[in-house]
Amino acid sequence: MTRATSHLLFILLLVVGVAAAGAHDDAAVRRTLEEFAGFPASDDGEGPSAAFRVDAEGLQRQIDELASFSDSPAPSVTRVLYSDKDVQARRYIKGIMNQLGLAVREDAVGNIFGRWEGSEAELGAVGTGSHVDAIPFSGKYDGVVGVLGALEAISLLKRSGFQPKRSLEVIMFTSEEPTRFGISCLGSRLMAGIEELTQSLRNVVDNQNVSFLDAAESAGYKMDPEDLRSVFLNKDSYSAFVELHIEQGPILEKEGIPIGIVTAIAAPASITVEFEGNGGHAGAVLMPARNDAGLAAAELALAVEKHVLESGSIDTVGTVGILQLHPGAINSIPSKSHLEIDVRDIDEKRRNDVIEKVRRSATEISKNRGVVLSEFKIINQDPPALSGKSVVDAMEFAAKQLNLEYKKMISRAYHDSLFMARVSPMGMIFIPCYKGYSHKPKEYASPEDMSNGVKVLALTMAKLSLD
Ligand SMILES: *[C@@H]1O[C@H](CO)[C@@H](O)[C@H](O)[C@H]1NC(C)=O
Ligand SMILES: [Zn+2]
Repeated sequence: MTRATSHLLFILLLVVGVAAAGAHDDAAVRRTLEEFAGFPASDDGEGPSAAFRVDAEGLQRQIDELASFSDSPAPSVTRVLYSDKDVQARRYIKGIMNQLGLAVREDAVGNIFGRWEGSEAELGAVGTGSHVDAIPFSGKYDGVVGVLGALEAISLLKRSGFQPKRSLEVIMFTSEEPTRFGISCLGSRLMAGIEELTQSLRNVVDNQNVSFLDAAESAGYKMDPEDLRSVFLNKDSYSAFVELHIEQGPILEKEGIPIGIVTAIAAPASITVEFEGNGGHAGAVLMPARNDAGLAAAELALAVEKHVLESGSIDTVGTVGILQLHPGAINSIPSKSHLEIDVRDIDEKRRNDVIEKVRRSATEISKNRGVVLSEFKIINQDPPALSGKSVVDAMEFAAKQLNLEYKKMISRAYHDSLFMARVSPMGMIFIPCYKGYSHKPKEYASPEDMSNGVKVLALTMAKLSLD
C-alpha cells in the first residue's frame, strides 16, 4: 500500500467512524470501508486525518473572482455565451484545471473537459460539472457551484491521496442558459447527439443578427458546420454523471436539510404562439367590428392556467412568461400578439396532454375572435429524466458516510444533467440556497452548505470511480 492510499484510508476511516459513532459495530464499519475503498482496511497508524476538508475560503474566493467577469455591475452577474466575459471565464476555469494537473480538452462548441486519468483509463469515466454562463442580472452561484465545486472536489480527492480507477472528469458545459440563441443546454444537448440541433445551429442568429457560427468563431471556436457532430458523445464515454447545483427552490433551507438527492428532472416544453388581427384606431373601431389579437393572447394565457390546473397534479406547471402586443400603443387595437409558454411536469404524457389542450384552445380562440393563429410552434418538448440507480446509491452512500441528512427530491428546473441522462446514468446533488432565490443578484449559498455539497460530490465520485 502506498503512503497516499494509506493516508486516504485513514480519512475514510475517520469519515466512516464519525458516521458509525454510536453504532459500536466495527466489523460493519470495516466492511463498508472495504466496499468503498476496494482494499482491506488496516489499523496501522497515523490516526484520523484532518485532510478531508473542503477549502471553503478558496472556493468562495474563486466564486467571487469568477463573478467579476460580468457585463453588469456587482452584485449582479451577466455572462452571455461567447461574449468577452464568457471567454474570460472560460480561461479562468481552464487555468484552475491546469493547476490541478487535469488534462484539458475543448470540443468544437467549447464544452470544456478536465480529466484526471484513472488507473483503468479505458473504462467509462465518472463525469461531473455544470455551467458558468449567467442570464442578465442574475447571481454568482447557479451553475458556478457545480463547476468550481467539482474542481474543489477533485482537489480534495487529490489532497487526500485518492487514486481513481475510472477517470474522473469535470465538464464546463457551453450555454446552459438560452439567453443568446434561445437554445437551453446547448452544449449538453449537442453532446447527447441530438441531430436536429446541428441543423438549427447552422441557421440560428442572435438578436443582433449574429449567427451562432460567427459568434463561436469570435470566441475562438472556429468551426465548419460539419464539425458540430464531433461534439456527440459515445454512449460508453461515461459510466456515471453527477451534477452539484444549488436547489433554486426553498425546500432544503426551509426544512434545514443540507443535501438533496435528485431522483428525477421534470420535463420542460416551450411553445411560441402568434395571433394576427386587423388592428385599428382605439376610438374609431367599434367593439363589434374588432379582431383584437391582444385579447386572444389574454384569453389563451388564462386557458394555459386552466389546462394546467385540470391536470390535477401539483407537479404540472405552466407559465406565460412573455406576452407582447403590436404595435404597443395605448390608442391602437393590437394587430399582433406573441406569447411564449413554458409547461413542465415529471410525467411526460400529462404534460403533452396540456400542450394539446392549449393548442385546441388557441385554435378555438382564433375562430371565436376572428383572428389568425399565425404560429403555434413547439420549440422544445423534452422528456423527463430519471436518475440512475447506481448514482443515487452512491450519493446516498456518500451522504451517510458524511453523516449528513438528505432528502430525495425532484428537480423542477432542468439542467445539463437532463441531457447527460441520455448518454450516461445521471444524478444530481442539491444544496440549500437562501430563500430559494436564483437567477437574481440575491442568489446565495453558504460556505458551509457548499462544503457539504463538495464533500458529498467527492465521495460519490470516488465511490463511482472504484465501481
Ligand atoms: C441578417 O444577416 C444576413 C446575413 O448577413 C442578411 O442576409 C440579413 O438581411 C440580415 N437580417 C437582418 C434583419 O438584418
Ligand atoms: Zn444552472
